[in-house]
Amino acid sequence: MTTIISNTKRLFLRRFDVSDVDDLTEVLGHPEVMEFSLSGPVGRAAVSQIIQQFEAHWHTWGFGQCAVVHKANQKVIGYCGLIRFIDIDGQTEDEIGYRLNRSYWGQGYATEAAQAIQTYGFTVVGLKRMVSMIDQNNVRSIRVAEKIGLHYEKDALIEGYVDRIYVIEQQDQLGLSTSSS
Ligand SMILES: CC(C)(COP(=O)(O)OP(=O)(O)OC[C@H]1O[C@@H](n2cnc3c(N)ncnc32)[C@H](O)[C@@H]1OP(=O)(O)O)[C@@H](O)C(=O)NCCC(=O)NCCS
Repeated sequence: MTTIISNTKRLFLRRFDVSDVDDLTEVLGHPEVMEFSLSGPVGRAAVSQIIQQFEAHWHTWGFGQCAVVHKANQKVIGYCGLIRFIDIDGQTEDEIGYRLNRSYWGQGYATEAAQAIQTYGFTVVGLKRMVSMIDQNNVRSIRVAEKIGLHYEKDALIEGYVDRIYVIEQQDQLGLSTSSS
């Protein structure tokens, strides 16, 4: 049975299934989509392993990466979800990550999916803080992070590269001051 994580206006977010490998290979095999990735474009066998890794993450942490399903045609147009990093600048961070099929960019889908995942992270998983770690030149991704309320916090060295850390905390959601009184 498919586990639906979120249902938005135009999208379903659900757990991945092995049968998603072809749709996800269309996404992760595209050079532009993988421009700001460590691996570059990947083929079908690697994508199979990536889906297994996504599911292993769900088993370990109880949350993870989701397939983004376009309601109108039922196609998997990318992934969006939460990934835990144990040591980013000395602390554990939970990242909202997103990557979409090149043909679906520029229509607000990443923002719609990432907003849903942020709500899921705060209300269902119970996280207090989420980040996005983004290359300074990845302007589209930075824009998505800003549109869902994340703000720049600092730069950090991640797997040998300097990324910008964008963050949202539960207090930001509630409109409360983060400073102690
Ligand atoms: C990042 C990504 C998920 C965005 O997907 P998307 O569905 O196109 O995103 P949205 O349509 O919700 O929003 C994109 C925003 O970037 C803006 N944008 C697009 N191209 C831009 C550019 N060259 N310069 C500045 N802003 C740009 C859009 O105008 C839009 O903002 P707006 O709504 O204020 O106009 C998609 O580009 C992608 O998969 N990129 C490759 C993978 C990746 O880099 N993932 C993030 C890793 S940190």
